[in-house]
Amino acid sequence: PGSSASLLTIFGATGDLARRMLLPSLYGLESDGLLPPRLRILGTARSELDAEGFRALVARTLAERVPAGERNDAAVRALLARIDYCAASVDDPATLAPLAASVREAAKQGDIVYHLSTAPRFYAPVCSALQSLGLGGAGTRVLLEKPIGHDLASAIRINDGVARAFDEDRVFRVDHYLGKEGVQNLLALRFGNALFEPLWNARHVEQVQITVAETVGVEGRGDYYDESGATRDMLQNHLLQLLCLTAMEPPSQFDPSAVRNEKLKVLRSLRPIGRAEVAAESVAGQYAAGAIDGVAVPGYAEELGRESRTETFVALRAHIDNWRWSGVPFYLRTGKRMPRRCTEIYLQFRAVPHSIFAHTGAEVQPNALVIRLQPEERIQLMLMSKTPGLDRAGLRLSQVALDLDLHKEFASYRRRFAYERLYLDALEGNGTLFVRRDETEAAWQWVDAVLAGWAQAGMTPKRYPAGTWGPSGAVALIERHGHSWRE
Ligand code: BG6
Repeated sequence: PGSSASLLTIFGATGDLARRMLLPSLYGLESDGLLPPRLRILGTARSELDAEGFRALVARTLAERVPAGERNDAAVRALLARIDYCAASVDDPATLAPLAASVREAAKQGDIVYHLSTAPRFYAPVCSALQSLGLGGAGTRVLLEKPIGHDLASAIRINDGVARAFDEDRVFRVDHYLGKEGVQNLLALRFGNALFEPLWNARHVEQVQITVAETVGVEGRGDYYDESGATRDMLQNHLLQLLCLTAMEPPSQFDPSAVRNEKLKVLRSLRPIGRAEVAAESVAGQYAAGAIDGVAVPGYAEELGRESRTETFVALRAHIDNWRWSGVPFYLRTGKRMPRRCTEIYLQFRAVPHSIFAHTGAEVQPNALVIRLQPEERIQLMLMSKTPGLDRAGLRLSQVALDLDLHKEFASYRRRFAYERLYLDALEGNGTLFVRRDETEAAWQWVDAVLAGWAQAGMTPKRYPAGTWGPSGAVALIERHGHSWRE
């Protein structure tokens, strides 16, 4: 809904996310001339800064975060010229009143976008404060960061609170994975090519793996992370969104309702993994001290400063109970302190029905499609090929890759922050790449069952040394079904 925005108000404008991602992304949009011409940016946070002080902080942040080769002084000045600041404290809605004048002034020119880059417990109170100040209503939108709640019940409470002030089509829930080029390219690959769709189903696909592996630990976010764990922090949102985009039916068009309706159907078709299934279908882990790339790193409990039962790794075998995917396992795994950073979707196709090479001893491996999203964007189609040379027994075969390196292919394009896409869409009111309420609640419902299953079964995370691919149980989980993780 709505038109181009004239004001972006960022709550939490001096915070970590703002400095790492939001401000550099706004700079990226500015330098490409993509910000609406009249847009003003209003930072708010608790710090008692004036506008000059905040602009100085923004300038310092850009100097640190934007690579020198991409920084251009004119664009920095243009961005700074849009920026104002207003001290306000989200835990005291009364302090929001001074925002009103700027918002009312901007509202004459275009839409207002509020970005709540704060702890989720503030979402409902801030939204209701904005509404009572008369700053909600038509022409306003609100962006919310994950996590929306801690479980289904708390997500419903937050969503209800927000809904009292903002209609659902004006609520933009951020999952920054949806802003990544590689993730959107999944849609291009599936729906911009006729080649894959006939194969994209249980008849031809043997198994799917979705991996989001990180080498980082909890990076000083221990207090937040220890309350969440890998399941709430990564699986509930990023991995399930990747699963949706991989598994959904073709939407009739690339628009907010069509795309999100299809994602929701996937989430609602996920077979519950509860008390009876968790032990066989899932593994939780927590990293112990180890080494990554030869550098020693401490264990999770040591980083946190106390013992903990929070999982930093989760792997599970999911099923989508619908016509397209019946019987195809979707193995999902994510963990911190893995041997390398890698986000990847792997589809293994079914084996040839009969090998004409069997008597020669040549092994025919199944075809596979590997969609690498991070750190590089790459698509590989794994094929069998004749190994060159003469062989008395017949042919020898090797697996080779048709290999598309998207960074090389599009070498002249700048690599963007996910938030550039997300801000651009939010400023223009396009919700396609944002998460709808029913999606986030369906995801929580499925994740809650896993977490409750672990608690009821008395399962606690198994230790794995930092720098390994998780506890050995994760290997056993997939090998029981005749598959193995791609490494
Ligand atoms: C965030 C999680 O949502 O995503 C972090 O809270 C995680 O724990 C991060 O490190 C990973 O994002 P990216 O873009 O680095 O893959």
